[in-house]
Amino acid sequence: MRIVYKYIKKMDGDYIHSLEADRWLFHADLVVDKAHVVMLAERGIIRAEEAAAILKSLQNLQLRSEVFIERELPNYEDVHTAIESWVTREVGDNAGGRMHTARSRNDEVATCIRIALREELLRLMKELNELRRALIERAAENIETVMPGYTHLQHAQPTTLAHHLLAHADAFARDFARLIAVYERVNVSPLGAAAFAATGFPIDRERTAELLGFDSVLENSMDAVSTRDFVIEAVSCYANLMTNLSRLAEEIILWSSSEFGFITLPEEYATGSSIMPQKRNPDYAELIRARAGSVYGCLLSILSICKALPYSYNRDLQEVTPHLLRATEISMTSVAVMRGYVTKLELKKERMAYEAKVGFTTATELADTIVRETGLPFRTAYRIVASMAEEKGHEHGETNIADADLNRIDEFSVRITGKRVSELGLTPESVKEALDIVSNINRRNVTGGPARKEVMRMLRAREDDLNRDDKLRGAKEERVKLCLRELEREVERRIQTLHN
Ligand code: ARG
Repeated sequence: MRIVYKYIKKMDGDYIHSLEADRWLFHADLVVDKAHVVMLAERGIIRAEEAAAILKSLQNLQLRSEVFIERELPNYEDVHTAIESWVTREVGDNAGGRMHTARSRNDEVATCIRIALREELLRLMKELNELRRALIERAAENIETVMPGYTHLQHAQPTTLAHHLLAHADAFARDFARLIAVYERVNVSPLGAAAFAATGFPIDRERTAELLGFDSVLENSMDAVSTRDFVIEAVSCYANLMTNLSRLAEEIILWSSSEFGFITLPEEYATGSSIMPQKRNPDYAELIRARAGSVYGCLLSILSICKALPYSYNRDLQEVTPHLLRATEISMTSVAVMRGYVTKLELKKERMAYEAKVGFTTATELADTIVRETGLPFRTAYRIVASMAEEKGHEHGETNIADADLNRIDEFSVRITGKRVSELGLTPESVKEALDIVSNINRRNVTGGPARKEVMRMLRAREDDLNRDDKLRGAKEERVKLCLRELEREVERRIQTLHN
């Protein structure tokens, strides 16, 4: 009873805002206000003195951000009303009351989300590139580190850790490509769309876009305030990224188990048990795995909120922002944790090499060798090797591949084809080579294969790609910084006129 009562009492005020998201948008809202006011003054919509007074008040507020966010923000319907009220209180109605000329909270909030998200995307791409670099570096150290490759989580064929880590790096390279593509659609300005029907004041939308570091204007004013498709896109990218992270996390969890025993978890990313003194648990990797699910939840929430919403603005759209924020935070921190794992994992290389042979992982290469040396069809060679594997019960890893000498292969080939493979041209040397793990790997030297030469080539190529990607990202960040610095200068210049 009491709980219900308390809830209802608080409902009027608290039910309407999304404080967490508004805290996130606060700094974006300050720059949006500044750019808008500068433009209003330039276009003669408000007077220079009024603009200067508003700008000065915004600078003051910026200095008091922390206290304001903590103490004042919660008392207002949202961040936009809170800031406007502060300005009006400081400079009076005559100047302060003009700040919101020719705009609406609808275009304002859409602009703020885009600015805040753009910052996060730039940071996430940076973190992601550091993860890619860590994977590439770790791969470079492990070109010779032999391990079993798996299909269906069963030993399948031998490979190297370098090849395996580069596979993950390539997935993250695609995540980067997706994020930077989304960035282009995020970094467009809805400002000036006002409630949805733009405005009769002679504003300059291109100018505010430029001052705020946007690449262009989101033209149709109805579209500009209605859409959150850029949020859906961003969170879809996160979902993809988290899926990729969760798969690597899962491998780390498996590899650290005593059944695999491939790695020791780094101290910083392992936790103990409160009862079992010997434990070192992969909790961080488990949380990456779990939080992929939370990000999917955010995506589904956002899609569900936006579905079938009539144009243009509805308050429903406010409910999207906290999910975006949460998904962003999870993705960012998960990438950083994963980088920690990748750089600090201790490898148990001997165990990996031992396991690479278990389960007759060279069976494919043996069949291929029979084909190459004897001219038998692949399916026939496959049957010969399959019957050997069955006999030895390889599913328990009991097949000692050294057993597969020419005599035994002959035995099976007689059963299946009526002929000895040795008479058809199979030599003891070629059998030995087929069964050797390292030559087995190095034979797989076609594009993308695990052979040393190919892995070396991929390593260099991926490093070049990464450097190019990081430059691209850096250029975008630089442009935004430059524009915002320019805006700051313009604001200061206008404030100076107050003192003269
Ligand atoms: N806090 C609101 C949001 O996040 C701002 C826009 C409010 N607009 C309105 N027409 N009520 O969407």
